Amino acid sequence: MATFLRPLSYRYQWLYDLISRTAALSVGGEKQFRHLALKGLTIQPEMKVLDLCCGSGQTTQFLVNYSKQVTGLDASPRSLQRAQKNVPEAEYVEAWAEDMPFEDNWFDLVHTSAAMHEMTPTQLQQILQEVERVLKPSGYFTLIDFHHPTNSVLWPGLATFLWLFETETAWQLLQTDLPALLTKIGFQQVEPILYAGGSLQVIQAQKP
Ligand SMILES: C[S@@+](CC[C@H](N)C(=O)[O-])C[C@H]1O[C@@H](n2cnc3c(N)ncnc32)[C@H](O)[C@@H]1O
Repeated sequence: MATFLRPLSYRYQWLYDLISRTAALSVGGEKQFRHLALKGLTIQPEMKVLDLCCGSGQTTQFLVNYSKQVTGLDASPRSLQRAQKNVPEAEYVEAWAEDMPFEDNWFDLVHTSAAMHEMTPTQLQQILQEVERVLKPSGYFTLIDFHHPTNSVLWPGLATFLWLFETETAWQLLQTDLPALLTKIGFQQVEPILYAGGSLQVIQAQKP
C-alpha cells in the first residue's frame, strides 16, 4: 500500500504541507485542525509541553504561542532540522516515541497530531505507555488522527487518501479503539470527539 507520493511528501515539505492543508479543509482549515485537540485546555506559559512526532513543526508552531517550554520529539533528523528552522522557539529531541529520553512525570501536556497512524499496534501500545510515564499526574494527552468514518459518504475520500499516502498501519489504526486502549493504560476522562464525518478523531485524556 501507499504510492510514490508518500516518499515524495516526506522529501518535500511544501508537498506535505499542501496535502495536510488540503485535508484540513474538512475541519475548516489548518489553524482549526491544529487547535482542535487543545480545545478547552488551559496552557500556561510555564507548562512543559511535548509535541510528540513533531515532524517539521507543523503543530509546534502553534504550541509555542501558549507555552515557553515546548519540546518537539521526532525520529527523523531531516524533519527535526526543518522544525528547528521553522520554529526555533522550541527545543528538539531526536528519539523514538516508544523509548523517550525523559524523566517520569515531566510534562504537563503531551500532544501528538497525525502521527499515531504510522505506528504498528505494538508500537502504539508502547508509545501510549511512554506518554503516561512522562506525563505529570493530572497532565493531559491530546491527539488528533484518522478514524473510521461514521458517515459512509466520507469513505471513498479517506480510502483514496490512505491508499495514496499511507501504509497498512493507518488502516490498523481505523480498527483500533484508542479510548479503550488509553483507559486500559490508566488514563481517565478519555473523551473522544469525531470530526469530518467521523474520519478524524480528537482525544483528550488525563493522567490520574
Ligand atoms: C505524518 S508526520 C506528522 C508530523 C506532524 N506531527 C504533523 O502534524 O504534521 C509523522 C511523524 O512521525 C515521525 N515518526 C514516525 N514514527 C516515529 C517513532 N516511532 N518515533 C518518533 N517519531 C516517529 C515521523 O518521522 C514523522 O515526522
